[in-house]
Amino acid sequence: MLEVRSLRSGYGHIEIVRGLDLSVAPGEVVALVGRNGAGKSTLVNSLMGFVPAHGGSVHVEGRELTRAAPHVRSRAGLAVVPQGRRVFGTLTVEQTLDLAGRSGGWDLDRVAAVFPRLAERRNTRARNLSGGEQSALAMARALATGPRILLLDEPSEGMSPQVLRALSSVIASLRDDGAGVLLVEQNLAFALTVADRVLVMARGHIALTIAGDDARADPDSLSRHLVLQSVATET
Ligand SMILES: Nc1ncnc2c1ncn2[C@@H]1O[C@H](COP(=O)(O)OP(=O)(O)OP(=O)(O)O)[C@@H](O)[C@H]1O
Ligand SMILES: [Mg+2]
Repeated sequence: MLEVRSLRSGYGHIEIVRGLDLSVAPGEVVALVGRNGAGKSTLVNSLMGFVPAHGGSVHVEGRELTRAAPHVRSRAGLAVVPQGRRVFGTLTVEQTLDLAGRSGGWDLDRVAAVFPRLAERRNTRARNLSGGEQSALAMARALATGPRILLLDEPSEGMSPQVLRALSSVIASLRDDGAGVLLVEQNLAFALTVADRVLVMARGHIALTIAGDDARADPDSLSRHLVLQSVATET
């Protein structure tokens, strides 16, 4: 369970996240959408401890982590697949997973069942993988830690349809394991295939919450809302 209360964070004196509340329950998939620059990545990086909180609180499985270091949050069950992948180029696939791996996390066999190509390339350095394979590796690295809450920051960006299908199946198995997923996603169509709830971020907080079934029943209304929101912010 992830609980975020009145969170404030940003860069220096510039506050980007301004009093944000959200929760992700065990086995729940929550999609977070919002225009470019809305602060979605800043939120994700604040939850991981890469951007310091100015106020509010963050709890994971009942544990206060508001000011905890990233490695403490990782041990408490948080993991992230950052926007733009960011894998270590000189490490091989196997080294990447060994370094991140914890007991209870996904091992190479479990990863291979979803991302077979990654297992075939276990001795290849990350920098020599294709973009899609690097995306799969970033995902596998997060899974190797055995997360209770997985934060995904625009994972579908640059993914082939095949890797996107693998991502769907990863999300489904996390849900079956009772882990929670916070999925930041520009690809609304993909987000709607997996989300139990959809949150719209604007002006540094959650401006709108929609049940996944309602969003699926009327996806145009959600897209219209996002378009109107970006027009309102730009003018
Ligand atoms: N390291 C940084 N230092 C200063 N300002 C930053 C930094 N990173 C992001 N910002 C600013 O914070 C605001 C929110 O950016 P952020 O990357 O969190 O948005 P986002 O919703 O993830 O956008 P996108 O959809 O393009 O990924 C933007 O105005 C951005 O310019
Ligand atoms: Mg972003």
